[in-house]
Amino acid sequence: MNEITIALAKGRLAEKSIPLFERCGIDCSELKQQNRKLIFYDMKKKIRFILVKPTDVPTYVEYGVADIGIVGKDSLMEENKPLYEMLDLGFGKCTLCIAGFDVISNASITFANKRVATKYPNIARNYFSNKGETIDIIKLNGSVELGPLVGLADVILDIVESGMTLKANGLLILEEICSISARLVVNRVSLKTKGDTIQGLISNIKKNLEEC
Ligand code: PRP
Repeated sequence: MNEITIALAKGRLAEKSIPLFERCGIDCSELKQQNRKLIFYDMKKKIRFILVKPTDVPTYVEYGVADIGIVGKDSLMEENKPLYEMLDLGFGKCTLCIAGFDVISNASITFANKRVATKYPNIARNYFSNKGETIDIIKLNGSVELGPLVGLADVILDIVESGMTLKANGLLILEEICSISARLVVNRVSLKTKGDTIQGLISNIKKNLEEC
C-alpha cells in the first residue's frame, strides 16, 4: 500500500474531518492532541496528515506534496487550481454572500463602483465582472466584517455560517452567491500513481459519510 499524504484545512474543517476519519478506522490520536505540530501520522495505515492554512490546501495538492486535500469549496474557487474534485463531504456548510448595512438593501441593488472587502479577491472579480459591475476590491486576511464598520469598504464578500458575526456587527446578507461545503480533492498525478490506495480511501470515506 502506498503512503498517502492528506492536507487538512486548519481550523473548523480539520476538526470536522477527525470524526469522519475515525469512522474510517484511521488513528487520529496525534491529530487530536492540542499542540503546535503540523505533521501527524497513522503509521498502521501509512497516512500522513499535514495541517495547512485553508487557502494553501489547493497549492499543496497541486504540487503533489499532498495527494489529497480536504478544503472548502470557497478556497477551491478562489485558488482555481487544476485538481480533481472527487467528493462533496457535506460538512462545513456555509454560504458565500455579499453583506453590508441594510440601507444598501433594496430592489435595484447595484454594487457598481462600491468598495468590496474580501478574503476572496478572485471570486469577487469574477462574480462582479459576470454581473457587468466594476468594483474596487480590498483584500483582507480576516475580520472582514470590520471593513464597512470603519469605512474601509461599502460591502463585504465573505462566507456566512451561523450568521453570528454579521449579526454582532449590524450587517445583513444583501446577496447570496452560492453554497459552500468541504470537498475532497486529489492531485492529478497521484490519482494515477496511487490510484488503488486513493480510490480505496475514498470508497471508505463515502461509505462512512452515507452511514452518518
Ligand atoms: C469566517 C468568515 C466570517 C465568519 C462567519 O471567519 O470569514 O467572518 O467565519 O461565521 P459565522 O457566520 O458563523 O459568524 P473566521 O472565523 O474563519 O475568521 P477570520 O475572520 O479570521 O477569517
